[in-house]
Amino acid sequence: MCAKKKIAVLTGAGVSAESGLSTYRDNNGLWDNYDPMEVASIEGWFRNRAKVLDFYNGQREKLRNVQPNDAHRTIARLDDNFDVCVITQNVDNLHERAGSGRVIHLHGEVTKVRPETGVYDESYSEREVLDIGYEKVVLGDKAPNGSQLRPHIVFFGEAVPKIERAIEVVSGADIVLIVGTSLQVYPAAGLYRYARNDAKIYIIDPAEVPVNESRVIHIRENATCGMKKFLSIVNKE
Ligand code: APR
Repeated sequence: MCAKKKIAVLTGAGVSAESGLSTYRDNNGLWDNYDPMEVASIEGWFRNRAKVLDFYNGQREKLRNVQPNDAHRTIARLDDNFDVCVITQNVDNLHERAGSGRVIHLHGEVTKVRPETGVYDESYSEREVLDIGYEKVVLGDKAPNGSQLRPHIVFFGEAVPKIERAIEVVSGADIVLIVGTSLQVYPAAGLYRYARNDAKIYIIDPAEVPVNESRVIHIRENATCGMKKFLSIVNKE
């Protein structure tokens, strides 16, 4: 029995667009309607915690009412024939709800919160992370250690603790599949460059992508159609 081929799937907001969740930078995207420096940055958190909590309460409520789409489900079905690790920038739980077995959330998870500990909040431990599902968190909601509960999100201005693990996964992959990201936010956007020279790289996105490496195959479709095309390509290899 030969070892299964390894696929690293790097996803962004575009993979959840067909579930009805807004992307960040498409027209009328989240960052057209909210200032990320106010609602998604560590400075914004210290400036106005209630505003940040309210933003993520809204994102959590939206997530309660949407379902994974066929792109999430097709990605999850890759687990049957490949050794797959999904590395997502998304804070939604749609990959898990579609059945993907290995998911790394580079930018955190909106269904989770953790205690606010000191400045630049990198000193927390995983066991302090609480899963609250789709419930709200407000000012005055405290963690067991007595500090204010904050979203378990990597705010702009904070480190990305899981990036080393993600680099390891991409460096060991036979295939790197990028789905629905504008590749604007580092270090996530630079991950695909850690692909081995003999690895194949595919990008699924209906728009132009900021990658001009000839070996990168751009499937210019939305995520659900693009995943069908990817599946037919990769099952023939
Ligand atoms: N199918 C596939 N791709 C799509 C679809 C779709 N139906 N609709 C839009 N896209 C593509 C867009 O063309 C764009 O390239 O998805 C991408 C969305 O880009 P962004 O909105 O910038 O989202 P993302 O790349 O995930 O943002 C990265 O920025 O603000 C931070 O932390 C936030 O994780 C987020 C990070």
